[in-house]
Amino acid sequence: MSFDALKIRSDFPIFDRTIRDGKRLVYLDSGATSQKPRVVIDAEGDFYRFHNAAAHRGAHQLAEEATDAFEGAREIVAKFLNAAIDEVVFTKSATESLNLIAYAMGNAPVGNRFHVTKSDRIVVTEMEHHANLIPWQQLADRTGADLSWFEVTPDGRLDLSNLNSVITENTKVVSLTHQSNVLGTINQLGAIIARAHAVGAVVVLDACQSVPHMSVDVKDLDIDFLAFSGHKTVGPTGVGIFWGRSSLLAELPPFLTGGSMIESVTMTGATWAPAPRKFEAGVPNMAQAVGLGAALEYLTNVGMDQIHQHEITLIASLIAQLQEIPDLHIVGPTDLADRGGVVSFTVGDIHPHDLGQFLDNQGIAVRTGHHCAWPLTRKLGVPATTRASVYLYNTEEDLDVLVKGVIDAQRYFA
Ligand code: ALA
Repeated sequence: MSFDALKIRSDFPIFDRTIRDGKRLVYLDSGATSQKPRVVIDAEGDFYRFHNAAAHRGAHQLAEEATDAFEGAREIVAKFLNAAIDEVVFTKSATESLNLIAYAMGNAPVGNRFHVTKSDRIVVTEMEHHANLIPWQQLADRTGADLSWFEVTPDGRLDLSNLNSVITENTKVVSLTHQSNVLGTINQLGAIIARAHAVGAVVVLDACQSVPHMSVDVKDLDIDFLAFSGHKTVGPTGVGIFWGRSSLLAELPPFLTGGSMIESVTMTGATWAPAPRKFEAGVPNMAQAVGLGAALEYLTNVGMDQIHQHEITLIASLIAQLQEIPDLHIVGPTDLADRGGVVSFTVGDIHPHDLGQFLDNQGIAVRTGHHCAWPLTRKLGVPATTRASVYLYNTEEDLDVLVKGVIDAQRYFA
């Protein structure tokens, strides 16, 4: 069956509304957050309407139903990632997931494999979102560890020419993005993971921009930890995933402490429940987890490979059309190899914020700025860009409207 983006679009109630005096909504900002299909909105609402109670706490029927719904969502996430169920931890966001691992490593006592000292190294890349950079800067500050990184080439790829001198024998953790939220670059992980594992380091993958858009199998990738957010995967806000290999989760200390993450508590100390509960202190975000479960089932029914292919077709068309526009400069790879559905660009001297506002007046939603990856945009010499990001509900018509909008903006600002 061919991919029918228009039919998919009709599953998303937001596209029934118009923007700026009756204009069709051209939503090209799914890299920031995705729209939600009716099944997700209903799943979250139905949890509150029919099953609301505190999961894992209570002997009554509603508590049982809430627990089943919450644990059912965990099972869906595990299947989606090809992971074991108890390797899936619910957090409030991908940002929290990345802070979880960085803070947990900072909490690791002497003798624990995650204990970080000033003789250790933490490795990131120059294309990280702030959420996968600042927690590691903070860990380096707290422990005295050295923070090092892979640089980005002018065409927006990782420079791995110095792989062995960046990932040194004393490297404890390598944390990097799967797909850049600014450049669209999909990082090839094989050599990095092989080197990291050879020196005994763990690999953390920020999969915020990949899990929603392509099939991601944690076993195939051979990574150790992964983070993604619900709201970018057509799911609700307020829910993220932290995945880790079970043998590693068993050793990793908790980040947040409190109710239901314990095995036993006295007035002077506590011991921890096994993962995933060790990492889920407090009454969890059950309705959001259930909504995320519905989102992942929705994406699975459409087909992750089909979604990825659809996005590549759209991005190929968009890049080709943008390249025809004089003075427009694409920031990031223009070849389609290892690239996802995000295109950042600058247009002559037009400030991206002005361009964003002009496009908004045509009903087009794009993101402008440094996209929470300031060191990257600085390195590339473009402190701000305009970014279009596509998803399963975008169509060629959306791209035509964007391209026309950019050409009109050039005339307007000339
Ligand atoms: N990280 C999100 C983005 O790239 C918000 O827009």
